[in-house]
Amino acid sequence: MRFRVRIWITGSQGQLGHVLLNLLQKKGIDSFGTTREEVDISQEDQVRSRMKGVTHIINAAAFARVDPAETEREKAFRANAVGPEVLALAAREAGARLIHISTDYVFDGTLGRPYREDDQTNPVNWYGQTKLEGELRVQKAFPEACIVRVSWVFGGHGTQQYVHAVLKMLREKRELRFVADQIGRPTYAHDLAEALIVLRDQSGIYHYANRGAISKYDLTCAIWDWAKRKHLPLLCESVVPITAAEFLVPAPRPLSTPFDTAKIEAILPIRSWEEALAECMNRSSFS
Ligand SMILES: NC(=O)c1ccc[n+]([C@@H]2O[C@H](COP(=O)([O-])OP(=O)(O)OC[C@H]3O[C@@H](n4cnc5c(N)ncnc54)[C@H](OP(=O)(O)O)[C@@H]3O)[C@@H](O)[C@H]2O)c1
Repeated sequence: MRFRVRIWITGSQGQLGHVLLNLLQKKGIDSFGTTREEVDISQEDQVRSRMKGVTHIINAAAFARVDPAETEREKAFRANAVGPEVLALAAREAGARLIHISTDYVFDGTLGRPYREDDQTNPVNWYGQTKLEGELRVQKAFPEACIVRVSWVFGGHGTQQYVHAVLKMLREKRELRFVADQIGRPTYAHDLAEALIVLRDQSGIYHYANRGAISKYDLTCAIWDWAKRKHLPLLCESVVPITAAEFLVPAPRPLSTPFDTAKIEAILPIRSWEEALAECMNRSSFS
């Protein structure tokens, strides 16, 4: 017997949400998305009004801008902590599943080895604090929910995403400076979307990212190499490695947050960031 599925993607105009909704629809899986204007996930009445027939919620909505979160604190808290709790309660009541997306920024980056799901959390900025609070509220409201932590998402929807942003800078600036001493694992939005569909009936916390731990400097250089091979018109002559201490931003970042992904790799394979980036560059119209 096949079970009926109807998947609700929140934040469906976001970098991840948009890719995920497109993928579900391409696969012919019954699904719909809502933007912040249509459903603010922190508003109980708005959430409940969309629950009819929903079997799964994948929460891709968030206040994901790390520096603005330091000043727009209440807005970030409502989206990242209150919203997930509202969704968890609504899903539990409706007998639906919840897959909630979280972040490597729940960690402080000082562990010295890749982070496993049960390692000690200790966020170093407000964004990370609100995302951790969201995780805790989801687990309390709906212990069967699934939380998927991801890191350094690239290649999703919108011109703000990493690859677009780097290519724009390469076109417009002679020199780029990128942090070389903060290490993480990039996550290709399309690979993540595929993984979330596979994970939709799981419970507990999972870490997901493409294989290979690198710096933003390394990732930027890889995009630069690709752009040069494609003979794109670039102004950039050098990409300079800098330290995190030299990169002055309102929100501190955790130093090194590569994930240990052994738990999720027992369920699904993960490819390297190089393979994922190559596909991202080739499938997009960046020229
Ligand atoms: N991007 C990364 O590098 C990264 C890294 C680690 C984890 N993550 C996590 O991955 C998930 C997806 O992130 P993303 O990069 O796709 O973010 P994104 O592009 O900023 O998309 C998030 C979407 O959520 C919407 N939203 C914000 N507040 C909302 C609310 N209260 N109710 C409903 N919708 C709301 C936003 O709408 P507006 O734009 O209109 O506000 C936006 O369309 C998030 O959980 C994020 O924390 C991202």
